[in-house]
Formats: sequence, structure tokens, C-alpha cells
Amino acid sequence: MEKSNQKRYVIAITNQKGGEGKTTTAINLACALAKKNYKILLIDIDPQANSTGIFVNPDSLEKSLYHVFSNGTNIRDIIIKTNVENLDLAPSKITLAEIESMGINVDAPYILRDAIQDLKEYQFIVIDCPPSLSIFTINALVAATHVVIPAQAEKFSIDGMTGLKNTINSIKRRINPDLKIAGALITQIRPRTILTRTILPVISQFFPVFKTSISQGVVIGESHLAKKSILDYAPDSNQAQEYWNFTEELLNELES
Ligand SMILES: Nc1ncnc2c1ncn2[C@@H]1O[C@H](COP(=O)(O)OP(=O)(O)O)[C@@H](O)[C@H]1O
Ligand SMILES: [Mg+2]
Repeated sequence: MEKSNQKRYVIAITNQKGGEGKTTTAINLACALAKKNYKILLIDIDPQANSTGIFVNPDSLEKSLYHVFSNGTNIRDIIIKTNVENLDLAPSKITLAEIESMGINVDAPYILRDAIQDLKEYQFIVIDCPPSLSIFTINALVAATHVVIPAQAEKFSIDGMTGLKNTINSIKRRINPDLKIAGALITQIRPRTILTRTILPVISQFFPVFKTSISQGVVIGESHLAKKSILDYAPDSNQAQEYWNFTEELLNELES
């Protein structure tokens, strides 16, 4: 991809089920792209602030996305640099959850899209979504150019896919016609299980599935504890290689 090319990609990492690998994928995709010398903004739009916590203690933050949503604070005033070169973070903290109880006005779905409109310096914006089809996920899908759907090869992971697909299609139809589904990324795979073989074809009835999948490994949990990407924590692990492969596969898809 031409780095001087002004095209900007906004990638929402979405799945309304928790535990599917959204945060892990958001962190590692953002770090992989940053290591490839793209300027990256990671937006944590989950009040649980899991991806924020990798880079900073959310409790120590004076300003966060809450301020962007509650009083129109310029997103530039909340963005912080991370210890990863080329990677900036728009952090979240638990107070963001209060936004949902404030009531919805007509501007509500567009807050994030408006907020990032002038952030031309980033070639990629990666958005880590909460485990719900809340106003935050809707904001992410309205702001996004592409959606990545991390999903485990589990029965319960399939149950929510109709709802997710309907939400994405409604947003495409009504608000964001250019939104593209980049694909589902199968995470936490245990090789050779019957489950994986039988569930993959079911997922592909809903969404295109990336050729790369991410295998299950304790190094992922360890990397979160160490507050690092898997690329830094265990660069020689299968999971690090898989996240690199996924990044390349996504880049190829965006180019085509
Ligand atoms: N490939 C993997 N192998 C092992 N554990 C994983 C893997 N991916 C994610 N996990 C673990 O699964 C849990 C949920 O992952 P997370 O990325 O936080 O999902 P989500 O953001 O969708 O809730 C975390 O405890 C994480 O450490
Ligand atoms: Mg998460």
C-alpha cells in the first residue's frame, strides 16, 4: 500500500458477544500496523476499557472518550501517545457507560464519525467495540470503512450472528453505504476439534472468513498481564505469527 496515499481506513472490531477476541485483535492489529510504520490511532469505545488498560491505567486519566460523548470535547484533547512507536490511543474508562443512560438524541450515532473526521494524520484507525449492540457499537459502525468480526468456533458464537449481520446491514442501508465487511476472524482455535470443522462452514454463511485464524494459547493471556502486544511479548509464538498473517491478509484485502 502506498503510504503517501491519503486514503484512510477505519476498522471496527465488532462482535456483540464478549470473550470472542475483539480486544486482543484490536491491540495486536493496531500494534502490527504501527510496526509496519503506519500512523495508527486505536480507539477504545468499550466502557470496560480493556485495551486502554494495556497502555495506561484508566483510573489515572483526566480525559477520555466520555468527554467526547458527553460535552463535545475535541478528540485531539483526549488522545495520548503510547509506548509503541506510531501508535496513539483514544482511551476509555468506566464513566463512558453513563452515556447510555443519558438518553439518545438524533446526533447520537454520529458522534464518533464527526469526532474523527479531521484526524487526517492517521492512516488507520482501529476501534475496539464493547460486547453489545449499544450506541457505542453503532457509533463505531457509522464511523467505520471496514468491519472485522472476531469469533470463536463455538456454538454460542453463532447464535448472535444474525443480530450482528442485521445491525451491520441496517447501518449500511441507512447511514453508511460504503461500510464493508472485511471478514470474520476465527480466534482461540483448538486444532483438530470437530467443533472447528463443523462451525466454520456455519460462520461462513454469515460472513466471509479470513484464511488466517488465531490459535488458542496461554501466551495471549500472559501478554495482556504483561501489558504488551503478543508481537512484543512472544514474537516467536504461533499467535504472534498468526496476527502478522492476519494483518497482511487484511492489508491485501484493503488494497484490492
Ligand atoms: N488466541 C487466544 N488464545 C487464548 N486466549 C485468548 C486468545 N484470544 C483471546 N483470549 C482470551 O480470551 C479472553 C477474551 O478475549 P478478548 O480479546 O478480551 O475478547 P473480547 O474483547 O471480545 O471480550 C481474554 O481473557 C483473552 O486473554
Ligand atoms: Mg473487549
